[in-house]
Amino acid sequence: MNISALIPTVYPGNLPGFLQVAFFLSLLLLVFKAAQLYLHRQWLLKALQEFPSPPSHWFYGHKIHRDQELQDLLTRVKKFPRACPRWFWGSRAHFVTYDPDYMKLILGRSDPKSHDTYRLLAPWIGYGLLLLNGQTWFQHRRMLTPAFHYDILKPYVRIMADSVCVMLDKWEQMISQNSTLEIFQPISLMTLDTIMKCAFSYRGNVQLGGKVQPYIQAIMDMNNLLFSRLRNAFHQNDIIYSLTYDGHWTNRACQIAHEHTDQVIKCRRAQLQDEGELEKIKRKRRLDFLDILLFAKMENGSSLSDKDLRAEVDTFMFEGHDTTASGVSWTLHALATHPEHQQRCREEVQGLLGDGTPISWDLLDQMPYTTMCIKEALRLYPPVPAVSRMLNTPVTFPDGRSLPKGVTVQLSFYGLHHNPKVWPNPEVFDPSRFAPERTQHSHSFLPFSGGPRNCIGKQFAMSELKVSVALTLLRFELLPDPTRIPVLMPRIVLKSMNGIYLHLRKLP
Ligand code: HEM
Repeated sequence: MNISALIPTVYPGNLPGFLQVAFFLSLLLLVFKAAQLYLHRQWLLKALQEFPSPPSHWFYGHKIHRDQELQDLLTRVKKFPRACPRWFWGSRAHFVTYDPDYMKLILGRSDPKSHDTYRLLAPWIGYGLLLLNGQTWFQHRRMLTPAFHYDILKPYVRIMADSVCVMLDKWEQMISQNSTLEIFQPISLMTLDTIMKCAFSYRGNVQLGGKVQPYIQAIMDMNNLLFSRLRNAFHQNDIIYSLTYDGHWTNRACQIAHEHTDQVIKCRRAQLQDEGELEKIKRKRRLDFLDILLFAKMENGSSLSDKDLRAEVDTFMFEGHDTTASGVSWTLHALATHPEHQQRCREEVQGLLGDGTPISWDLLDQMPYTTMCIKEALRLYPPVPAVSRMLNTPVTFPDGRSLPKGVTVQLSFYGLHHNPKVWPNPEVFDPSRFAPERTQHSHSFLPFSGGPRNCIGKQFAMSELKVSVALTLLRFELLPDPTRIPVLMPRIVLKSMNGIYLHLRKLP
């Protein structure tokens, strides 16, 4: 039978036989794909029917300008109680929640990370702790938890302080020429320096060499590229994406990031060989994060492949510096724009360190007001604005509404922290919200997420935040630059579209 007889209007009948078959099969595939997308859309519409959302287009979903995402979210938070679906395109929608009870329920379950979002991170950070699920995640988490024990963290305070001082010395030199500085970049270098020294026993000083600048830039690029890819229906397929300009760019950025982490692993392996046998090293000194990974492999050859090791190093290198850089930068910005709180923190820190006492682990617990200000900054500017899960069983929320298995749930920490039902006057910087006598819902403040998949580096990050803020306030008065107000940019990590500029005044 001649196939062209079946589709006479669209089919060019004079093609050779094999092209006719190819044409027919492509058409069939197209129809099949369209039917699949249509059915998935119908399923999503039904799954989300109990949750109203603003009107969306059947093809391109909710049309939100990429610079307006947070403003749009805040409008939804006010208008739709607890949660609201967000349609990206006809067949993709996420259920976005910003309610503490909903968050508590979801974070207490064991749903996996949502595949459609997190898989895009895999070419870069691999399947390390952040992306793993199930039993393998559990084993890795158990293996790595000792690296964050407070006995290990205590001596890190000295390393953190040294890294911060290198940055502040540079700032001092720079402000002799121009007292306004973009702080996100140097703070990223500082937090990268710190994580490389603490977790990977790296001995160089990355803040002075300039060699890591390409890595920092690659991370910045990846944040933007991933965000764009998530919002582009045509960029979901890996093969198609790899042929696009953005796909090439992503590959290049991944390559740069991997070159950096490979170098760190190589250095450490060489160091370990110099230091001798595993048992000798274990007796000699504490094991850092990378030791644990390398020894886990040595003790049980099959337990941690080179690929797994690389994934963990890539994960911790990124998670351990970019999030903290965001936290420190936004906290300094918040203090610059609220001089009265800045001064109160400074007085507290001067009381502890003003006579030249070096900062130490024990002193970090004696800065209650500074800690309240840091928390308030993390509320207003959560470094990780959202995370997502894919429901592996149906869920019924406390208000009786439910969702079936298979829905992607986005937990918007930014939405939660700016939800006026949870935080009255949410846009006001008010550290007294975190005063010890004030009570809050257990899930109203989640910069480090919650439940079993909370941030493993929370304590590390809080220590680094306190050290950075305390030492900066001892040396500088911070003022905002009214000509360059930062514009929030929600990527994997919360950044500013136009950098974060502060005016620094050296204190006598
Ligand atoms: C202010 C700084 C930080 C913030 C706000 C932050 C926030 C978070 C959040 C919200 C998650 C949950 C992610 C998800 O569910 O997809 C997370 C997970 C994680 N964080 Fe952090 N983080 C910070 C610093 C750090 C540091 C310093 C490290 C490492 C030294 C780290 C390592 C990790 C890892 C490995 C995970 C995955 C944990 C797991 O799934 O078991 N983070 N972090």
